[in-house]
Order: sequence, then structure tokens, then C-alpha cells
Amino acid sequence: MAESPPTALSAATVPRHIAVIMDGNGRWARRRSLPRHAGHRAGVKAVRETVENAAKHGVDYLTLFAFSSENWQRPREEVSKLMGLFVEALRREVAELHRNNVRLRFIGARDQLDAKLIDKITAAETLTADNTGLNLQVAVAYGGRWDIVEAARTLAARVDAGDIRQDDIDEEAFAAELQLADVPDPDLLIRTGGEHRISNFLLWNLAYAEIWFCDVLWPEFGEPEFESALGFYAQRQRRYGHTGEQLEAVKC
Ligand code: IPE
Ligand code: IPE
Ligand code: MG
Repeated sequence: MAESPPTALSAATVPRHIAVIMDGNGRWARRRSLPRHAGHRAGVKAVRETVENAAKHGVDYLTLFAFSSENWQRPREEVSKLMGLFVEALRREVAELHRNNVRLRFIGARDQLDAKLIDKITAAETLTADNTGLNLQVAVAYGGRWDIVEAARTLAARVDAGDIRQDDIDEEAFAAELQLADVPDPDLLIRTGGEHRISNFLLWNLAYAEIWFCDVLWPEFGEPEFESALGFYAQRQRRYGHTGEQLEAVKC
């Protein structure tokens, strides 16, 4: 049988779950002498394209970092414009996402958001709950440490209530209380904007993710960059602590 060309990505080499730290909006705007907010606005287009690209390449789960726990510390005007942009983006994009069979969910400290945004989020989640295409998670007011502390709190309360015993707490029980409890761990993390750090994203879930950093600023992240990330991922050998030789032996 003829071998597939080296550039072709077989289903097995496409990550099941991609997480993205969408960074660089502010710098994109500054380079054009525009206010930072213009960069966030331009970033919405890159979100739309990335969702389309993920669905097109057969990715099952896509998780986007839109606003971190720490981003509350930004100037009040930037935060309030960003929150307004989230409401507007939901108003504009949800019908199309629904038509494309996308299941949309939000993770993060929802109670910290404005009532109007919470309403839009809840409506979008309800509308798309039974969709069977791409699972799209958007992290807003999310922090990896917050997520872990919330899980610990829930487990402690369950022990207090006599629902479980302290000994029942293992990695599986802990993971089941995290925001992405029913989502497989990300296989690939993409960070745009040139920084090489995790910035308090999915600290627990990224334990074994392959990480692809690129210098492109988020508003300019398009299909060529997405495909470069897939190409990088397809060439990784995921060892999970084993040796390369062990994995080669299993293949034979
Ligand atoms: C990422 O872009 C978007 C958010 C964090 C909300 P930035 O706003 O961090 O852009 P830079 O890093 O300042 O260029
Ligand atoms: C990470 O970007 C958060 C999001 C992309 C939402 P930041 O721009 O906030 O990260 P730092 O501050 O440079 O680490
Ligand atoms: Mg940034």
C-alpha cells in the first residue's frame, strides 16, 4: 500500500483537544497606533477562524483563554470594554456556532461577571447543549489556581458532609471536580504573542500537553499558523515518562 505523503495529517496525529492562550492583541493595536481595545476587537476574527479550522481538521475539543483571573487588574476601561466585547461577540456569533453544530461552554468564576454577560453565556450554553460537533470551551475570569482551589474546597465539603472519605481523594476524584471534568486533557497548547509561559491557564490539565509557541500576535493567527501547530504536534513522541524505546517496542 502506498504511504501517505509526509505532509498529510492522519486522524491519529490530530490532537483531540487543543487549548489556546490568545495573546498579543494589545501589541497588535499599539503597532498600528490604535487603542488596545481595537486589538481585542480584531482578535474576535481570529477566534472565528480558529473555531472553523479546528472543526475542519477534526479536533473534538477547543479551549480558548479569553480573560484570566489576573486580567481584572488591567485598567478599568480596558476591562469594561472587553466585557462589552464578549457580550457583543456572543450576540453576533452564537447563531452561526449553533448552525455549525458547535457546543459552547464557559469556564471560570462566572459569579464575577456582569449579569448581562452571565445571561448571554447561559443562553448560549442552553441553546447549544445538545450539539454534537466541536466542543468549544471559553475561559473567562479563569485561573488554573482558582480552579484547583475550588476543586479542593468542594472535596473538603464532601468529606465534611460524610459523602466521601479522605482516602477516596485520588487524582481521578480530584480531576472530576475541575472545570473541565468531562473533557479530556489538552493534547496541544498553543500560545501566540511570543511569550513562553502558561500564565495560570489550565495548570492541572496541561500536565502532559505538547506546547507550541509562536511569535504571531493573536489577531494575525490564521490557517497557516494553525496548520504549523498541527504539523509540530504530529511529529511529537508522547512518552508520558516511558522511554522512546519502550514506545517503539509497543508499536511493533
Ligand atoms: C490577550 O492579548 C488578550 C487578553 C489577555 C484579554 P493582550 O491584551 O494580553 O495583548 P498584549 O500581550 O498586551 O499584546
Ligand atoms: C494570558 O495573557 C491571558 C489570556 C490570554 C486571556 P496575558 O497577557 O494576561 O498574560 P501575561 O500577563 O503576559 O502573562
Ligand atoms: Mg498579553
